[in-house]
Amino acid sequence: MADILLEPVVLGDNIHLRNRICMGSMTRNRCIDNSKPTDASIKHYVSRAQDGPGLIIAEGTFISPHGAEWPHAPVMYNQEHADAWSKVTSAVHEVGGKIFFQPWHPGRIQNENMPMLKEAGAPVHAPSKVPAKGGKFRTLEGTPGYTHNITEIDDPSSIVEQFRHSSALAQQAGFDGIELLSQGGYLLHNFLCSHANLRIDQYGGSAENRCRFPLEVLDSIIEVWGPRVVGIKICPPDDYNDSAISYEELTETYTYYIKELMRRDLAFINLSRRGCQVGRETDAYFRSQPRPEGKELPSGYEPWSQFGHLIKYPGSRTMLMVNHEYTPEEARDLIKQAKIDLVTFARPFIYNPDLVSRIKSGLPFAMNDRGGRVNYGPFQDPNENYNDWPLHEKNQFHSQQAVS
Ligand SMILES: Cc1cc2nc3c(=O)[nH]c(=O)nc-3n(C[C@H](O)[C@H](O)[C@H](O)COP(=O)(O)O)c2cc1C
Repeated sequence: MADILLEPVVLGDNIHLRNRICMGSMTRNRCIDNSKPTDASIKHYVSRAQDGPGLIIAEGTFISPHGAEWPHAPVMYNQEHADAWSKVTSAVHEVGGKIFFQPWHPGRIQNENMPMLKEAGAPVHAPSKVPAKGGKFRTLEGTPGYTHNITEIDDPSSIVEQFRHSSALAQQAGFDGIELLSQGGYLLHNFLCSHANLRIDQYGGSAENRCRFPLEVLDSIIEVWGPRVVGIKICPPDDYNDSAISYEELTETYTYYIKELMRRDLAFINLSRRGCQVGRETDAYFRSQPRPEGKELPSGYEPWSQFGHLIKYPGSRTMLMVNHEYTPEEARDLIKQAKIDLVTFARPFIYNPDLVSRIKSGLPFAMNDRGGRVNYGPFQDPNENYNDWPLHEKNQFHSQQAVS
């Protein structure tokens, strides 16, 4: 019987995906040419695209020179950046792939001593002066954490304009669409969470007010791209970067937020389940922690089972994508039950350049057998632990065709 995961689908109005398998966005810290993608980036994205996932979401890309913990994450705020990214998008298109841009602002998840921010003379911007717990700036002396030196955003519309500008450059760079990052404790998420957003203006307080800034950003992107090539990544139970909220707040905020997202006729909503106990762990990277007191989730909680009906209903044109610790079996089962439409795999794509071929042949995914910090560079050679993962021996044929 045909594998439903491998079924071609149309995303939005006319983005023809080869199948329902997506490669999740991953910062890999290899953009060593002044925060622009390099030949190593091209090789990486092409090798993954060549094996045939339906969609690739490119790594989170900063919309202005504020950076984050990763000194070699990419930026997109001028023509030079768009030109560098266009080499990636055209190479991906040449092998039949589709690739979306992911604009990113770290918000309070930053330290003002990082070189990019210092050179730009920019402050750490967040909705309110509430430092995030955690962080580890390995490249700074004493490895400090997230800053206490936060500047409250005076005029959110100036940052909305930065998102619009960056997204317009992404269009010039030839991306097929946008996935807006609205989780992970970064700027949009800072506005959503009541503990990070103490504002008393129209951007803070009620769920409606806390959702206002992310929705304004989304609307600015839609003005450039139109809604049918735009998606958004959200994670109601997220606990990353000090972002956990109570179940009551989660329910109220995301019921309102998702209903507003759905009013915009987006191509997809990417719903993450980070912060849930899902019964399996790829590695220690996102090891699930006990929820903080007062922020516990109902036993067996799954965001799609709470919010899926707001996204998938008769007449809805927005696809439901899921991510975080999915297996092909689980995704297949949910697609068969019409609970979801698309699945992303992220970490498995690091270690499996031939991930789609493995699914096609029923071969198991390789795990990270190298230990250590293979996820992020920088390494002497950006290809290290990036473009040197082997194919399954039964897929060696592909290596003869691989882009060198
Ligand atoms: C090294 C690494 C970098 C990541 N960078 C990003 C990012 O830039 N943007 C984003 O939305 N998610 C990022 N993520 C999260 C992944 O997209 C994904 O949601 C997460 O890894 C769970 O999926 P998985 O279990 O299939 O790995 C990153 C994950 C890893 C492991």
